[in-house]
Amino acid sequence: MTSATLEPILKSSHLLGIEGLCASEVTALLDLAETYVALNRGGEKKTALLKGRTLINLFFEASTRTQSSFELAGKRMGADVLNMSVKTSSVSKGETLIDTASTLNAMRPDILVVRHHDSGAAELLSRKLDCSVVNAGDGSHEHPTQALLDALTIRRRLGGFENLTVAICGDILHSRVARSNIRLLSLMGARVRLVAPATLLPCDAARFGVEIFTDMKAGLAGVDIVMMLRLQLERMTGAFVPSSREYFRFYGLDREKLGYARPSALVMHPGPMNRGVEIASDIADDLDVSLISEQVEMGVAIRMAVLDALARGMA
Ligand code: NCD
Repeated sequence: MTSATLEPILKSSHLLGIEGLCASEVTALLDLAETYVALNRGGEKKTALLKGRTLINLFFEASTRTQSSFELAGKRMGADVLNMSVKTSSVSKGETLIDTASTLNAMRPDILVVRHHDSGAAELLSRKLDCSVVNAGDGSHEHPTQALLDALTIRRRLGGFENLTVAICGDILHSRVARSNIRLLSLMGARVRLVAPATLLPCDAARFGVEIFTDMKAGLAGVDIVMMLRLQLERMTGAFVPSSREYFRFYGLDREKLGYARPSALVMHPGPMNRGVEIASDIADDLDVSLISEQVEMGVAIRMAVLDALARGMA
């Protein structure tokens, strides 16, 4: 069976953000990812769906989970995968994003996965290139595959999104993970709360249609999921918090603060974690409450589902 004969899933030939997706597209991607969870848990983790296709990973920012899972996803589906390391490429000689991308375009890739420090970079490339573009994180704008893998993790544990309350806590201001999750969780019917010091909340946070708290006790009261975010110091232009010790005291997730949430509450974190800053080690490592390694597992399955869905639209 070739991908072109399979049922289409996405209307667009790119995945640039959760914005623009509808609930049925999200559900179809999550359903498809379930088949890849099963495949990945088996012995022979291979399909030939992307045989003959070329996937380029173009990462302008550091990444462990996202880049390696796109690489594994592509390889498990039979694609040729090229990882462009920006440090050793001509980008370090001053080449522009568009020139780098045009060079890669001439090599005729089918899918380009891009992470860039500027919001809008993935969208710009999608207009210039002939291949499908996947946004693996653009500035503080969107990180759609992270929100999808978080949704898959939540759906597998809690069955769905209706009647769920999710608190996204920490550095919301600089977080593309927060923006994509707010969009996706709201789209699927969950209630979303943002919990952060006022300095780490976007000034227009209210436009997301979510509840906003600056106090962990009030913000976590009765929630089903506590999603912690890293202080993204590399995106900060000044001091947004007095010190990491003080930050942990008021906003770091420890046993006491987790106690404000529902007794059955589960903890998520997209990684990389800063232990003792936004999350206590004993919470991160407590397998009864922490979904952190499950999120990483779901990341490979979601990226396989996204590649599969994009390949279905290809000639
Ligand atoms: C996130 C990112 O890069 O936006 N990490 C990830 O993809 N798992 C979050 C972060 O960097 O804090």
